[in-house]
Amino acid sequence: MKNAADRVILTGFMGVGKSTVARHLSYILQREQIDLDAVIEESEGCSIVRLVEQKGVEVFRTLETKYLKMILEDERASIVALGGGAWMTEENRELIRSYKCTTIWLESTFEHCWRNINLSKKKRPMVKNKRQVRTLFKDRERLYCLADWHFLMKPELTSLDVAKQIAEEVFSIEMLNGRKRP
Ligand code: S3P
Repeated sequence: MKNAADRVILTGFMGVGKSTVARHLSYILQREQIDLDAVIEESEGCSIVRLVEQKGVEVFRTLETKYLKMILEDERASIVALGGGAWMTEENRELIRSYKCTTIWLESTFEHCWRNINLSKKKRPMVKNKRQVRTLFKDRERLYCLADWHFLMKPELTSLDVAKQIAEEVFSIEMLNGRKRP
């Protein structure tokens, strides 16, 4: 088990549910959570889709590293949901490693992610069509695998179930009806 004081970094493919699991985990662990994409959008005053359209993917990736660093330097944010591509950059993985972090891959099937991508209101500039997204999904698995923990988002599990499972298995927190046992 990792140190309970470690920061939690959630990674995984687009549409897997990183932000929702982060919110539940924040409630269970009573720790602040932060969403890297939300920080970028707020700080830049621009949506990610517009940022990529106007400045290109490379600029977006540079900003991702810049804001990830800022988040990691700020000790208050102890649960961080990354954007699906942030973990692909070696510099970001090294940065995360250099801080005390427990990294968690929320793993799922391509079809599950694809369904959520289509149901979600979030506009995703990396999504062109199903075939291209499937290729991206396959390419990225080998890097998501490098995370410390892997949690399978089985279809029968809700995001809350997964957050509870993480609290129990990663942090040995006993759960009682969705709450921490006192
Ligand atoms: C991206 C995933 C998005 C967002 C950006 C790029 C990616 O976040 O960071 O559109 O390259 O996979 P989500 O994983 O929350 O969709």
